[in-house]
This record gives sequence, C-alpha cells and structure tokens, in this order.
Amino acid sequence: MVILPLIEGLDNGLALTPPMGWMTWQRYRCITDCQKYPDECISDKLVRRVVDKMISDGYLDVGYEYIIVDDCWMENERDSSGHLVEDKVRFPYGMESLINYVHSNGFKFGIYEDYGRKTCMGYPGMLGHVQKDINKFADWGIDYIKVDGCYNDEVDLSDGYEMLKDALNNTGRPIVYSCSYPAYHDENSIPTDFMKLSKNCNLWRNYDDIQDSWGSVTDILDYFALKQDFIAKYAGPGHWNDPDMLLIGNYGLSYDQSKVQMALWAVLSAPLLMSVNLDTIRPEYAAILKNKKIIQVNQDPLGIQGLRVLRKNKIEVWTKKITPVIGENYSYAVAFYSRRTDGSPQEFNVTLRDIGLNFIGGYKLEVNFIIYNLAI
Ligand SMILES: *[C@@H]1O[C@H](CO)[C@@H](O)[C@H](O)[C@H]1NC(C)=O
Ligand SMILES: *[C@@H]1O[C@H](CO)[C@@H](O)[C@H](O)[C@H]1NC(C)=O
Repeated sequence: MVILPLIEGLDNGLALTPPMGWMTWQRYRCITDCQKYPDECISDKLVRRVVDKMISDGYLDVGYEYIIVDDCWMENERDSSGHLVEDKVRFPYGMESLINYVHSNGFKFGIYEDYGRKTCMGYPGMLGHVQKDINKFADWGIDYIKVDGCYNDEVDLSDGYEMLKDALNNTGRPIVYSCSYPAYHDENSIPTDFMKLSKNCNLWRNYDDIQDSWGSVTDILDYFALKQDFIAKYAGPGHWNDPDMLLIGNYGLSYDQSKVQMALWAVLSAPLLMSVNLDTIRPEYAAILKNKKIIQVNQDPLGIQGLRVLRKNKIEVWTKKITPVIGENYSYAVAFYSRRTDGSPQEFNVTLRDIGLNFIGGYKLEVNFIIYNLAI
C-alpha cells in the first residue's frame, strides 16, 4: 500500500499528470507587428504552423498535447456587447476556427487572460466580467486557461481565483486551470494558503517569470529547494507546482544546461511547457525535449514532487519517488546537478543511503543522459 499525502485537488478530473505542451510566451512574447515579423507575431498562422510541426516532428507522439496562446491575442477593446475579441488582423478567421483546427489535429487548446483590469501587456482584463468571459472561452472550446494577476488591487488574490474556479465549473466544460497568484503573493510577501490553492487550481506559478538564461534556471531551482518542505506536498495528480516554461532550444541555455532543465523539471513533476521556434530548433535540443525516459519520470502516475536531498562540493542530488513501488518501497529517479564552473570532470562519491535510498533488497540501476533512474 502506497501512502499518499492527503491533499485534495481541484475536482475536475484534469491534469492527473503534469500538463505537457507548447506555449507562445517565452519565445514570442508580445510580438504583434506581423508586417515586420510575419513568422513571429502572435497569430493564427503561428499557431497552425506549430500544430503541423508538432505532428510532423513527433512532439505530439511523446505527449506534448496543449497548445497555449499567452498574452497579446486580443483587440485593445471589448466589442459593443462587452465581449472580448481576438485581434482581427492576426486571427482573421476567428479564435473558434483556430481552436477547431487545433482540436481536429489531436491537440488541446489553451488561452491566457488576467484577473485584473488589464492583462500584464495592457489588453482588457477579466475583472468585472469573469463569468461572461469564461462562458465565451468555453463556447470557443478552450481546454486550458492561464490566469495572470496583473492590474488587480486585491491584497490576497485567492478569493478571486476561487470565484474564477466556480465560473469555470459553471460552464460544464472541463478546463485546466493555471493560476498565477502565488507568484504575486510571493513577490509581495503575502502568505498563500496552499490547501485552498490545490483545491482551486490544477497548477500554479510559485515564483518569478523564467527568463532565457541559466541564472534564471538556477534561481528557480534554488527557490524550489528552499521551499520544498512547505510546497512539495501540495503537488499531486490534478494539482502541480509550476516553475514556469522550458527554455530548451532558445538562446540562453547551453546543450548541457538544457539537459539539466529537462531533468530537474521532470524530477519536480513540473508542467512541461516548451516555448521555442520549432522550425529552427537544433535537432539535439529537440531530442532533449523528446527524451521518452525523462518524460516518463515527469509523467509518473504517482505524481510525487522530487526533492533536493544532498549538496556537496557544489554538486546537488535530487530524487523523486516513482513507480514501480513494492510494498512501501519506491523506485527513484535520481538527478545529479553540478553547479561547478571549474570545467574538469569531478569525482563525486555518494552512497545510496546518503540520498535516502534504504531498501535492503537493493536497486537496479538504469542510466539515462544525466539522469540516473534507480528502480527496485
Ligand atoms: C464541477 O465541480 C464538481 C464538484 O466539485 C465536480 O464534480 C465536477 O466534475 C466539476 N465540473 C467541471 C466541468 O469541472
Ligand atoms: C517494503 O518495505 C516494507 C517496510 O517499509 C517491508 O516490510 C517490506 O518487506 C518491503 N517489501 C519488499 C518486497 O521487500
């Protein structure tokens, strides 16, 4: 019998493993000038190209199923009846037609909005229009919503996000709900009630936005390690901590740093949301994103978030409990993460007991790129 922590998650039957997909933000941000940047602006054309590429290059096959349009998809004003409208130039066939295209190719569609007067980039926010906007999204057929927290004066945002959860539930359509408010609370030193959070949201951003750099990755990992005793137990099927998007294939991470991000995000049971130009990504980076063994660690059905268990000579060991489980004896994914900058290979000695692997029957070792997968 496996004893799982008694955390009740949002009861919508979704995100039983961490969501996997592709999102516009990290690579394409708020590019809206399609004259100057025809291939990079946030548009119908971009999304359709991503759909086709994700099929032809095998991303859908390994599990990346959500295609998510972040900020900057809207017109600057609501229409005369108060509805949000997609930018008419960049989404000339309408959002519904685009979503149909996404669905007919086997993907799910995610959209961005903000629980404030405006989105972070200044487009109309949902404050005062929550049910109307959510109904519109449900009519369009969205499957996922990322709700940001800019331009809202409420000190504690959790009640507002709970109301949004009810508005989503009212539509009757199953929609994955990604909440940004813990990151806003963290920034303003407002405590977050994680029990309430995990009942209301399928995933949530804990900390700062990721930026395209190794420094940003290490900063986020340090935060997750520092807070792990408090936050890790709230992760599980249907409810996940979210350290933000995968940078892999962009400008900021080397090949080896990219492997670290993929491995540690897998160990953290993090959502795997890439954000990269799929037309130009180099094959070795694409291979990291498509590494089936690492994805399997991330998608392990137990959904237990991994922890940093050891630090020695600027090398960290992180472990995650995974299946198969025999009795109360788990298998483990083990990641060795070097923070060293001296270059030459380092000898690193550690016993299984040092990292909490105490099963007297011993373990069978399966070696993957930089991740060591220890199975019973
Ligand atoms: C709405 O909430 C109820 C009660 O928690 C739940 O059983 C149901 O699955 C939810 N429906 C949707 C569409 O999320
Ligand atoms: C698993 O662990 C329990 C105690 O935690 C032990 O009693 C049991 O024998 C172990 N199972 C196997 C198959 O060894």
